[in-house]
Amino acid sequence: MLRPLRLRDRREWEELRRANVAWLERWEATSPTAAPPSSFHEYVRAMDRQARAGQALPFVIELGGELVGQLTASSITRGSFHNAVIGYWVGEHVAGRGVTPTAVAMVCDYCWFELGLHRVEINIRPENAASRRVVEKLGFRDEGVRRRFLHIQGDWRDHRSYALTAEEVPGGLLRRWHQAGGGVR
Ligand SMILES: CC(C)(COP(=O)(O)OP(=O)(O)OC[C@H]1O[C@@H](n2cnc3c(N)ncnc32)[C@H](O)[C@@H]1OP(=O)(O)O)[C@@H](O)C(=O)NCCC(=O)NCCS
Repeated sequence: MLRPLRLRDRREWEELRRANVAWLERWEATSPTAAPPSSFHEYVRAMDRQARAGQALPFVIELGGELVGQLTASSITRGSFHNAVIGYWVGEHVAGRGVTPTAVAMVCDYCWFELGLHRVEINIRPENAASRRVVEKLGFRDEGVRRRFLHIQGDWRDHRSYALTAEEVPGGLLRRWHQAGGGVR
């Protein structure tokens, strides 16, 4: 299940993050200038502001009632672009069970068919083989390498950009993923 991140998730979220520091730090975006949010409270408030402004969908991923990860659609742009950028992570203890591709498929369908967006983009470091498998299994188009694209662990890192547009998946991505045998194991 996907649902909004809430202030009362603090204890569970912090425990999950603590247990996965080494698992996540290679892949998480940093900022060359701004300090990270000083508290969970500040982080949720910042995400809520973006959500209310229509710029982000800050979801947590739940599996059997347990908070196991996050999926955020951000940089939501309208105008002539109608685009969202998706980022995600799950705890190592649930990795490899199809949780993330299923969540990505759900959010893509929501972006296209509920919000009326046109394109969804996911940017991945070339060395992140597990994340590249997520987009490959879902049939995202590889749009090539963007040099020194995002700031991670103190430096600008190359990323591969993957994208899908609404008209490429008229029946929905979740349906296509399930028809291909995908789902949560
Ligand atoms: C990338 C990530 C989100 C994938 O999520 P997931 O729910 O495990 O996705 P899947 O179940 O589809 O597995 C994807 C691939 O991970 C690899 N994998 C499987 N089990 C694994 C395990 N126990 N540990 C590590 N990788 C594993 C496999 O290559 C799998 O591909 P396959 O289905 O072809 O075998 C997850 O590995 C993660 O949170 N990594 C750390 C943070 C991160 O990289 N975020 C993305 C930044 S772009």
